[in-house]
Amino acid sequence: MSRVLILALLIGIFSSSAVAKISRLFNTVSTLPQLIGPVGEDRITLGEPTTAQPFAGALVFYVNGKYGDPFCTSSLIAPDRVLTAAHCFPPIMYHPKIQLKFVYGLSDIREASIEENKNNPNVSIITFDIDEDVEIHDDYKGESNFFLDDIAIIELPTPVTAPGLKVMRLAKTEILDNVHDVGWGKMNCTHASPDTLRKAEANVISQAECTERLNGVRGGIPVPDSQICSFFKAMGELAAVSSGDSGGPLYQDGTDPIQIGVLSHGYFYPKIKDPPKNWACINPYFPQVFVRVSYYQDWIQKIVPSAQFV
Ligand SMILES: *[C@@H]1O[C@H](CO)[C@@H](O)[C@H](O)[C@H]1NC(C)=O
Ligand SMILES: *[C@@H]1O[C@H](CO)[C@@H](O)[C@H](O)[C@H]1NC(C)=O
Repeated sequence: MSRVLILALLIGIFSSSAVAKISRLFNTVSTLPQLIGPVGEDRITLGEPTTAQPFAGALVFYVNGKYGDPFCTSSLIAPDRVLTAAHCFPPIMYHPKIQLKFVYGLSDIREASIEENKNNPNVSIITFDIDEDVEIHDDYKGESNFFLDDIAIIELPTPVTAPGLKVMRLAKTEILDNVHDVGWGKMNCTHASPDTLRKAEANVISQAECTERLNGVRGGIPVPDSQICSFFKAMGELAAVSSGDSGGPLYQDGTDPIQIGVLSHGYFYPKIKDPPKNWACINPYFPQVFVRVSYYQDWIQKIVPSAQFV
């Protein structure tokens, strides 16, 4: 994220109406990519509504104790350890007026739903401290190197106690079958906030294909092995990730899900030269880029020795 964007968010936060404005943390790169398919309109979303997933948590920010917005998605790799993206924590998030919560066990994470379920034993709402509890990869530099090492772990001060908890296992090898992504990202290009968690089917592509498809935006620089790319489909249509889906898992679905990637970034529609700062809409005809968890096994297990790679 550029400094300009961070500044804009800072102003947004303290203008009276705009607690919600900070949530657009999804990495977006506005370079003009080559068009490789027809351009859709506002209908593009991550996918179809789904129930709370036993491994997923929403990251929600509050300003002076008031509900702000969900800003990222995450997965549990231990009852008190949460995998997400580094770019979920730009400098603005360190502002003393901002509090961060991990919300587990709800599909609907709007304010009323969180309030209603405060004492629901199936739900865990855990406040964490950005200085104390968040480990961001040291080499993460943002857009300057195409969001390499966009990975972070939250060390929750208390574990999730909800009985449904299912810790995500992590992939050591390539998995292409039955892969999905879930997230609480914006539902369409007009920035509508999500009511519920949403899910889409992934079509993971090879490094070579990703490099080719992103050639125009990466200036020919190959996509490194630390990243993995995918297209998405939901309800039979092309889908795309959006602001707020960041940090969410790319995973093989099933009774014992296996996480393959952590959502990092996507690309704007090529026709938009200068998108608004909080633009949420990602071009589904460009592969969306994830951190490949197998590449980070040592880093993850140094922080979370119990993290299970299979
Ligand atoms: C965007 O999503 C909101 C919330 O569901 C909906 O009301 C609105 O009609 C959607 N916009 C478009 C263009 O689909
Ligand atoms: C908690 O989950 C259990 C098992 O799914 C369910 O039977 C129960 O009604 C839930 N409790 C609440 C308060 O939602």
